[in-house]
Amino acid sequence: MSFPKGFFWGGAVAANQVEGAWNVDGKGPSVADVATYKPNTDVKDYKSHVAMDDAHIAAAMADPDDTYYPKRRGIDFYHHYKEDLKLFAEMGFTMLRVSIAWTRIFPTGEEAEPNEKGLQFYSDLFAEMHKNGIEPLVTLSHYEMPLALATKYNGWVDRRVIDCFAKFCHACFERYKDQVKYWLTFNEVDSVIRHPFTTAGIIPSRVPEDKMLETCYQALHHQLVASAMVVKDCHEIIPGSKVGCMLTKLTTYARTCAPDDELATQAKNLENLFYADVHVWGEYPRLILKMFERKGIHVEMLPEDAATLKAGCVDFVSCSYYMTMTESVDPNAERTPGNTVLGVKNPYLPSTDWGWQIDPKGLRYSLIELYDRYRKPLMVVENGMGAKDVVEADGSIHDPYRVEYFRQHISEMGKAIDEGVEMWGYTTWAPIDLISASTNQMSKRYGFIYVDQDDMGNGTLARSRKDSFYWYKKVIASNGEDL
Ligand code: BG6
Repeated sequence: MSFPKGFFWGGAVAANQVEGAWNVDGKGPSVADVATYKPNTDVKDYKSHVAMDDAHIAAAMADPDDTYYPKRRGIDFYHHYKEDLKLFAEMGFTMLRVSIAWTRIFPTGEEAEPNEKGLQFYSDLFAEMHKNGIEPLVTLSHYEMPLALATKYNGWVDRRVIDCFAKFCHACFERYKDQVKYWLTFNEVDSVIRHPFTTAGIIPSRVPEDKMLETCYQALHHQLVASAMVVKDCHEIIPGSKVGCMLTKLTTYARTCAPDDELATQAKNLENLFYADVHVWGEYPRLILKMFERKGIHVEMLPEDAATLKAGCVDFVSCSYYMTMTESVDPNAERTPGNTVLGVKNPYLPSTDWGWQIDPKGLRYSLIELYDRYRKPLMVVENGMGAKDVVEADGSIHDPYRVEYFRQHISEMGKAIDEGVEMWGYTTWAPIDLISASTNQMSKRYGFIYVDQDDMGNGTLARSRKDSFYWYKKVIASNGEDL
């Protein structure tokens, strides 16, 4: 297997899931700070976990505590990052994907000037990464927009949010131009449709049900325009910078070869790819515009948007990859949850405790498909398995299931490279245990590094190495040869 020389190996996290310190040094509340841990809700029912309305936001903001708002505390990376980076460096990381919390820089999104303390935190973080030989890959928007923009404008539905975001990104490019070369604009830009509040600050109870889809596409259009604007700005401010898009790669297979199943599957896959199409080609695919027409969806686009999209095409394509889904027109087909989706179960695949189907070969399939379609370098910037870990009496944590998951996925990624796919790097989700995006659980653990904290926030926050830590270290040291 031939991972290219200089291939980036590492891990990925998001500010709102690790940093904590939600209200210190001038940070404003973000949409993540009102996301609630719901202990008695089925973990496979993602819709209940991500539900949101104005009453809930008001109640959350009146509650200064973090017990039921775990993203307020994260794993306190804000104060532990030096120790954590040392552990990442010990594993041999050459890249770490982090995001910048918009509300540390512009607490409500509308201030005229950035918050210096927020800017300084990330300067220090990036400096420390470089000190440890770790290249930053920075996401500008990862489920953490200012809550103030959500409540005032209903998030990205309002076009004025584009300028707020562009101002935030401009401040980041100016400040970090000597520290950060690799950027991503929107994490899983396609997810607006699946969790509108988390991704785009849309408060669903404000939108009539029959207008929800149209509203999501409107917000999405604003994000696509904003993304193109900041790609251009980044290229101008940081010559040689590389800016990518980030897609939830939700590859769907047909449950049977019945033509109706195939057609339904094709529609799903085209829908999943269209977001990256716009980022890469700078225009909406005709089939998607026709789909809007057929469904009576009217998306307000300004005449100048076409030129903006064309002028801000991305340099590379990145994706998260956790599982694949299956599609069938049979209403009785058995269903299973995946990453904020509910699809038809694939009888050939095992699943995690959260119902996500494990499909390493699907990663190879997805990478080949993406490369063939876009002919752009790829990065897998999230891949991993949420699991319950057990700490033994002597403090050790044996996680062979995680090692096996990664062994198989990395092996398939290597095969895709051997088949000709151009790849720059791979960052696992997540190298250290953190708060789950969908369920707000701590006990859904992803890391090579264990963090002593339970779902209610009890624990010392001490970090310890799982068995998988030593395994990934060996993989990186051998540039993917020794799996
Ligand atoms: C991705 C998100 O969709 O999936 C991450 O970008 C998220 O933020 C990851 O954490 C895993 O999902 P979850 O719900 O298990 O945390």
